Amino acid sequence: MPSFSSSTRDIPQVAEIPRHIAIIMDGNGRWAKQRMLPRAAGHKRGVEIVREVVKACVARGVEYLTLFAFSSENWRRPADEVSMLKGLFVMALEREAEKLHRNGIRLRVVGDLAPFGKKITDLVERAERLTRDNQKMTLSIAANYGGRWDLLQAMQRLIESRPEQRGAFTEEQLASCLAMAYAPEPDLFIRTGGEQRISNFLLWQLAYSEFYFTDTLWPDFNAAALDQAIASYQRRERRFGRTSEQLKSAAGAPASKTELA
Ligand code: IPE
Ligand code: IPE
Ligand code: MG
Repeated sequence: MPSFSSSTRDIPQVAEIPRHIAIIMDGNGRWAKQRMLPRAAGHKRGVEIVREVVKACVARGVEYLTLFAFSSENWRRPADEVSMLKGLFVMALEREAEKLHRNGIRLRVVGDLAPFGKKITDLVERAERLTRDNQKMTLSIAANYGGRWDLLQAMQRLIESRPEQRGAFTEEQLASCLAMAYAPEPDLFIRTGGEQRISNFLLWQLAYSEFYFTDTLWPDFNAAALDQAIASYQRRERRFGRTSEQLKSAAGAPASKTELA
């Protein structure tokens, strides 16, 4: 498994286009309500927006796109909404896996999938197997994902695999057991729908991500809105603990040419 640089242990390379974008797609229900439609209509439209945003990310050279589709807390919703969301997930897996494959996209689904049942776990396994060698972009769907679940399962795996360390683990060892150890930390975190919170998403990996919140509801999000988020990202100064002056002098030095001033 490749290991990626850690934002707290090294200074990551920073590129013009975020290498990894993570999105909390929020606002489907409110979008539907505004139109006097059932919440399901918002979720359906939300899936269409996913297609558009995936395409736009590939076109812009984003290497990893991670979408929060269902949180470990979303089971608290009414049963009919949960089962509707599960149905949409099945449909998307059945219909989109081939298309993703044709477009050179690798699909990964992260989260505790067992509670979704065998139909979904089988579909996920098949789609991941089909697309595993694709290199254009890695699309990760977080389903029944929770940042705390992820940290706990990583810790448990570590303790089981390295009992001799008696809990004296390194950051790298913990990071390598997280569900998304195959991806670098997100450069840009986007949340649509107006709320400004993490809602138990990637707690570990968002340590040094740039945050972008927009009031736009997910079903109204599109490629132009994505470009606005990226433009905002490009105006940020990613200091990783250093001073602005240090960053500017590093920008002139040949070794860190790729960093944004
Ligand atoms: C996000 O939209 C989709 C999921 C959480 C599955 P919401 O369903 O949370 O929409 P709002 O927040 O009620 O508008
Ligand atoms: C976060 O959205 C989870 C997903 C988008 C899947 P929620 O709408 O469930 O978040 P909270 O509960 O309002 O924080
Ligand atoms: Mg919501």
